[in-house]
Amino acid sequence: MYMIHRGVIFPTNSHDEESLDYAENRFQVWDEDIFNVTYPKSGTTWMQQILTLIHSNGDPTLSRSVPSWERVPWIEQRTAHGYLETRPSPRLITSHLPVQFFPKSLFHSKAKVIYTARNPKDTFVSLYHFYNMSGFLEDPGATQDFLNKFLSGEVIYGSWFDHLRGWLGVKDKVNLLFITYEELLQDPRGSVIKVCNFIGKKLDDKAIDSVVENSSFKSMKENQMTNYSLVPDSIMNQKKSPFMRKGICGDWKNYFTVAESEHFDVVYHEKMRNLDISFTWDKN
Ligand code: A3P
Repeated sequence: MYMIHRGVIFPTNSHDEESLDYAENRFQVWDEDIFNVTYPKSGTTWMQQILTLIHSNGDPTLSRSVPSWERVPWIEQRTAHGYLETRPSPRLITSHLPVQFFPKSLFHSKAKVIYTARNPKDTFVSLYHFYNMSGFLEDPGATQDFLNKFLSGEVIYGSWFDHLRGWLGVKDKVNLLFITYEELLQDPRGSVIKVCNFIGKKLDDKAIDSVVENSSFKSMKENQMTNYSLVPDSIMNQKKSPFMRKGICGDWKNYFTVAESEHFDVVYHEKMRNLDISFTWDKN
């Protein structure tokens, strides 16, 4: 079910040592590549959809006919070479990799990286439900136990804190746009324009409207190519919890006790020490 690669847990349904080695050491990043990097449950699928739609100038055809994981594939998964090596540039590529496992060739390229982060409390709640519905992950058990695992990084792709700090640590070495789930939700149109500007793509108003409309939660929940309904129940049992679950900010308030939230805050402040950035979620 799991493997541990240099201290970080990866699910073996889609990863192995070979696929992680391929990503880190053999994958050649091209200058035109565009990476969608996230810690799990932070808006990965959403950004896959936004990037596909921007790339196709707002035309939703591809985003309604090809699954998101094929359009913007994960570089660390076993399927990566098949999807990516023959694809024309600019390639749209997803990754959950902590920065130390990322293709080394990124650091000698002009490739663009969009890093989407989400309030870690909401990320935790979303991950808890994802563990619950995924046949390839263990039962998360009681929320309190899973919270301890989350805070100590004993979950897939490791510690949320290390992931974020690792990526922010290279922001001056790579071409990186930092964006948040909260920003995407609060200002979808402004966020789409921001991504367009970053990747150097000019879209007219009508095309931007289409990107926003076809990447809304409602539209993606109904779209078989983004809602993971193509995946069998044995892998993702959406009767337990839909992949497109709530799509909101602040759901953590429905799950955390006061004591859990306070404990989370103590760990958060300790782990985020000396990081000279304030995040949208710091206020809530
Ligand atoms: P919730 O479980 O909180 O609803 P990822 O794609 O990284 O696995 O993240 C999945 C989370 O993003 C889920 O969160 C899902 O509902 C949410 N999500 C996906 N598309 C979204 C959209 N268009 N708008 C808002 N939230 C979205």
